Amino acid sequence: HAADAHRTDLMTITRFVLNEQSKYPESRGDFTILLSHIVLGCKFVCTAVNKGEDQKKLDVLSNEVFIKALVSSGRTCILVSEEDEEATFVEPAKRGKYCVVFDPLDGSSNIDCGVSIGTIFGIYMMKDVHEPTLDDVLQPGKNMLAAGYCMYGSSCTLVLSTGKGVNGFTLDPSLGEFILTHPDIKIPKKGKIYSVNEGNAKNWDGPTSKYVESCKFPKDGSSPKSLRYIGSMVADVHRTLLYGGIFLYPADKKSPNGKLRVLYEVFPMSFLMEQAGGQAFTGKERALDLVPTKIHERAPIFLGSYDDVEEIKRLYAAEE
Ligand code: AHG
Ligand code: MN
Ligand code: MN
Ligand code: MN
Repeated sequence: HAADAHRTDLMTITRFVLNEQSKYPESRGDFTILLSHIVLGCKFVCTAVNKGEDQKKLDVLSNEVFIKALVSSGRTCILVSEEDEEATFVEPAKRGKYCVVFDPLDGSSNIDCGVSIGTIFGIYMMKDVHEPTLDDVLQPGKNMLAAGYCMYGSSCTLVLSTGKGVNGFTLDPSLGEFILTHPDIKIPKKGKIYSVNEGNAKNWDGPTSKYVESCKFPKDGSSPKSLRYIGSMVADVHRTLLYGGIFLYPADKKSPNGKLRVLYEVFPMSFLMEQAGGQAFTGKERALDLVPTKIHERAPIFLGSYDDVEEIKRLYAAEE
């Protein structure tokens, strides 16, 4: 029986990634070990979130767990975390070839009211063998080898891309394993939802204002879009990926670069969107083409369904 076979032939995230990497025998072990340390961090945060720890503790705790898990993997050389002003350079004895950029707990202002929060991560490889420098993490997003997020919601869901599409895994608490539940996620070509903090509308630029206006009062005879905004990037992007539509955190007069951070928010989510058949745009260029100059740099971001992002690109192009 096909359904039973599916239930007994458990595709864990480790097994899945080993299969996926089988074409790269020299590096698949290292990558799988790195990933299993990220997964451990996600399981820890998931448990801590479910225990109801308060925000301040959870922020700091999650960051410590990820830093320690990543260093002890022996596969990393530079770590950039939203919680640490400086990058962490791993001591030579524990060094590996991967650089990991991450936001250990995104949406942390939502913790105390039980709304979904998440962890976001991106993985780069050092260009060649040399002393690691910040330049190794200041690479455009298109150079990422893998990116993903884990959402701590009604269930714990890990969404991952190693550059061959996007797959979703759900934590089975009784097994303590992430099991493949959402194979080969593709974002709908066009969506019916827009997601933005409209409280910033008074300070938006022309194209963003025009775009949101057209979501509410479409001029082409189509139905208006629905608005959904949680204020947790992981949850808002997860919904966008599964249901389609657009998520935007645009520039405004007060924040000319928007709010979201390039390395560990904009890049990983843009990578996933492109891998799922969507697009990600900064208002100026393809998001993954951006070359960051500072580790905590910010950028405006418009990401989601192909056609919806195409429309905002058209409005920015018309501005020039
Ligand atoms: P963090 O909790 O890591 O500081 O990030 C919060 C981010 C992101 O999750 C979300 O998309 C955005 O802040 C919401 O910002 P607004 O409250 O300005 O809408
Ligand atoms: Mn924070
Ligand atoms: Mn964040
Ligand atoms: Mn954070």
